[in-house]
Amino acid sequence: MQKQSRVLLIIEKNPSGSYGIQMAKRMGLYVIFFSNNKYSNRPSEEDRQYIDELYEIDTNSDDDVMRLVKEISVKTKIDAVITFMEYYVPLVAKVAQYLGVKGNSVECSICTHDKYEMRKKLYQNGASIPQYLLFDSLESLLEGVNIIGYPNVIKPINMAASRAVLKSCNKEEMVTNYEKLIQEIPPYGVMKEERYLLEEYVDGQEISVEAAVENGKVNIIAFTKKYVSSGNHFVEMGHTVPYNVDNKTKMEIERCVLEGIRALGITNSITHSEIKISPKGPKIIEIASRLGGDHIPDLVNYAYGIDMWKMAIEIALGEKIDCNKVKNEAASIVFLSANPGRIIRIENEDLIKRKAGVKLLHLECSVGDKVSSLENSLSRIGEIITVGNNCNEAEQLSSWALNEIIIETR
Ligand SMILES: Nc1ncnc2c1ncn2[C@@H]1O[C@H](COP(=O)(O)OP(=O)(O)OP(=O)(O)O)[C@@H](O)[C@H]1O
Ligand SMILES: [Mg+2]
Repeated sequence: MQKQSRVLLIIEKNPSGSYGIQMAKRMGLYVIFFSNNKYSNRPSEEDRQYIDELYEIDTNSDDDVMRLVKEISVKTKIDAVITFMEYYVPLVAKVAQYLGVKGNSVECSICTHDKYEMRKKLYQNGASIPQYLLFDSLESLLEGVNIIGYPNVIKPINMAASRAVLKSCNKEEMVTNYEKLIQEIPPYGVMKEERYLLEEYVDGQEISVEAAVENGKVNIIAFTKKYVSSGNHFVEMGHTVPYNVDNKTKMEIERCVLEGIRALGITNSITHSEIKISPKGPKIIEIASRLGGDHIPDLVNYAYGIDMWKMAIEIALGEKIDCNKVKNEAASIVFLSANPGRIIRIENEDLIKRKAGVKLLHLECSVGDKVSSLENSLSRIGEIITVGNNCNEAEQLSSWALNEIIIETR
């Protein structure tokens, strides 16, 4: 059993959360981990080396989790609680409130997870957002579109990774998209919500803003440029840190993000704000009260030498954070895709890995695997991270790598 070290409870993680577990250990923490342990996000053998106590529990049952937290906390003081997964953000706030440790309020965490609650809160506080309506049937969608019009976006209120986030330019497309939307089931045993959002489509460059909120003080850490696929689906195909923009736009974006963070009542967590710079100014797509996915924290670390994983844990512990950049470089990630079919050839993997500036080349596929069409983040088949002295250098290298790698399907 742990003695002097402080105790961190982690409830579930994405694959990239393995780094967060290792970081916790490096910070000298005693790590308790709750996991359903039956889905692809379960801790790996390697993860387990950094976990002191692993509990297998239905993390989709708040009651079960609260019961276990109560049981453990009778004998062990838990100093902080965190999740490395969007779906468990509200649960973590409940646990933090029960334990009396740092975190966002339960209301706030619901508003940063449930996309309808988020839109309502942002609207009530005058933040800059697209027009939106809630619907729960084809009839209510068809009624709503009389107000929202085309092009529009429909989406689930409690999912992630762009699952069933669909753009429609006319009624026919929208009805087809509606069928897809209602069939989408959340992953990891998360309960399906049968309420959906209809939103005005916002045109413009998409970026994200990574920030750290400490006792209500917002520290903006990075602007990330996003490359999103075109068509009816929105698949994030690349990100670059930093996104360089003129001062006026920068100030407008910062104001928009600050308004959003304040409106949602975020006081203690990392935030990942997705913004589109529309001709009418920046508009909030969503604000998450957790680390950005898609290796964005890694890009921030390569570009600025700031470890946002460490920072997320420090905030949860109530420790002081250091937001100073130790360097001013750039990093890019590009995601791989291929024509739908079976993979018959992969080439040049080694060539790319050996090139200076390429920090990661990870393929989630091998010869013989089936590639599906590009519909959401899960249909991507790998990623490449590159670094450079500036954005151009990092992006040129990632474009080169993307061109060199051959993934042939038939
Ligand atoms: N109203 C909108 N107008 C324009 N684009 C939108 C709109 N809503 C969503 N999108 C696009 O779809 C993407 C995914 O939408 P959203 O963030 O709401 O879903 P998500 O499942 O949380 O995705 P992720 O987990 O990848 O952030 C956005 O990043 C954006 O590119
Ligand atoms: Mg999003």
